[in-house]
Amino acid sequence: MPINSFRPVVLSVFAALALSPLAVQADMSESEQAALQKSQAAIKEYATTLKAALQTAMKAGGPMAAIPVCHTQAPQIAAQVGKKYDLEIHRTSLKPRAIAPQPWEKTVLEQFEAEKKAGKPIGKIVWHQTVEVDGQNELRLMKAIPTGEVCLTCHGTNVAPAVLSKIKSLYPKDEATGYKLGDIRGAFSVTASLN
Ligand code: HEC
Repeated sequence: MPINSFRPVVLSVFAALALSPLAVQADMSESEQAALQKSQAAIKEYATTLKAALQTAMKAGGPMAAIPVCHTQAPQIAAQVGKKYDLEIHRTSLKPRAIAPQPWEKTVLEQFEAEKKAGKPIGKIVWHQTVEVDGQNELRLMKAIPTGEVCLTCHGTNVAPAVLSKIKSLYPKDEATGYKLGDIRGAFSVTASLN
């Protein structure tokens, strides 16, 4: 495929994901652009698959059935998607239920809160950086996750007592309640090595 017919496809993928225009800067290397593109695709696939699993479980048995589904399937789907795209993907949060942020993730999540406060729509809040770890370059990418209506059942300010105790039994250190509609619930976090 000639290179100039590939380019518009790349751009339209970015546009569809509402990635900030900065992400397609001309000074990014080809391997960085490729890593960025597959990271975005992985996030999209993880988000879509997880949402479908959550919706199916909620429909079938409400939150009491959906909690165990989140518990087992969220890490499983992350592992599957990570394998497919050859990268590491997970979700994290400043108030985590399952996965506490690493220091760099915490810094980015704090920056996301500041961006939201400054009026940026959550759907447009993304960040990426290329870093060198043990002599190996890797691309790190994070994308903010908004709190929607359905999320409040298990992450809201008024979680039903039975739901809360089920959550506490699986996650004794849970911090992920007290959210309101439109808050940043957390972020997807991807690390892709640049070869
Ligand atoms: C049925 C209960 C339930 C609902 C509804 C729910 N979640 Fe969760 N959420 C969980 C559980 C359980 C986990 C822990 C999953 C794991 O073990 O990886 C979790 C973890 C997360 C995490 C990972 C960060 C962390 O705190 O560990 C994010 C981000 C998240 N949920 C966002 C959402 C969003 C956004 C929605 C709405 C679209 C939502 N959740 C709806 C139960 C729920």
